[in-house]
Amino acid sequence: MSAKNGSIKLVAGNSNPALAKAIAGELELPLTKAVVRRFADMEIFVEIQENVRGSDVFILQSTSYPANDHLMELLIITDALRRASARRITAVVPYFGYARQDRKSGSRTPISAKLVANLITHAGAHRVMTVDLHALQIQGFFDIPTDNLFASPVMVRDIRERFDLSNVMVVSPDVGGVVRARGLAKRINTPLAIIDKRRERAGESEVMNVIGDVAGYTCILVDDIVDSGGTLVNAADALLANGAKEVYAYISHGVLSGGAAARITTSRLKELVITDSILPTEAVCNAKNIRTLSIATLIAEAIGRTASEESVSSLFD
Ligand code: R5P
Repeated sequence: MSAKNGSIKLVAGNSNPALAKAIAGELELPLTKAVVRRFADMEIFVEIQENVRGSDVFILQSTSYPANDHLMELLIITDALRRASARRITAVVPYFGYARQDRKSGSRTPISAKLVANLITHAGAHRVMTVDLHALQIQGFFDIPTDNLFASPVMVRDIRERFDLSNVMVVSPDVGGVVRARGLAKRINTPLAIIDKRRERAGESEVMNVIGDVAGYTCILVDDIVDSGGTLVNAADALLANGAKEVYAYISHGVLSGGAAARITTSRLKELVITDSILPTEAVCNAKNIRTLSIATLIAEAIGRTASEESVSSLFD
């Protein structure tokens, strides 16, 4: 894929150099020379080492672990580009951190997703591009154009290649994820089941009720985030207890904090498939039942279309 617009510049933060390189490769563009380094007190310093005046600049940066450092890098890179007279700045944030705090979960709690949207906008971004936002309404937290790309075409291709779809059931691991799971089930024309997590009484452990007859099916759990892995591991156990033949999971963002990779490896999940929206840790790379699909081509295509003012949504028709 070659970029049609010669004025495109790609600037990578430090969150996911491998994905940035792959996107640049797809677009047949070099990454713009820039340094993002630290002062002794860990303040971030950015220097864009090429002329970007009048350019259409895409910053590639997931706000993944360490979320605060990567977010601050994104903001400071944006500021540097704005002051360097870039014509248009698009923050490409494959994994948008803080998205799980998208409403007041209790009295006197923040809506951090909205705060982060404000910060990105005020830093000087003109557009945002992200992948599988935790909640679709976060798009509305931005008052600048925001493209929420979907990893599902990449997942669907992989699922079609690997499974006999006549025996597959897509499963949402919680009620909140039903729309996402239903969308994928529709694309591959399979039935859908839902897990309803409930704590009957305070202090009692969660009960996983499976809605749908999963007996004999190969179940594919679909979700946006795997963090501790607890949701998936418990869901896999519940599905197998209800007669599922085997359980796989396709999850957009492999946050996989702490000992999550080990938890997945020792679980009854046959395989966890994630995307490279977040740079996999060594533990994730070494985990025998975790596989990564790349979304570099998808993001590169969306960047190319944005630059040449073509439709991005038609990527998902
Ligand atoms: C929750 O709403 C999300 O969609 C995920 O289900 C959740 O973040 C997974 O977290 P964990 O892997 O820690 O159970």
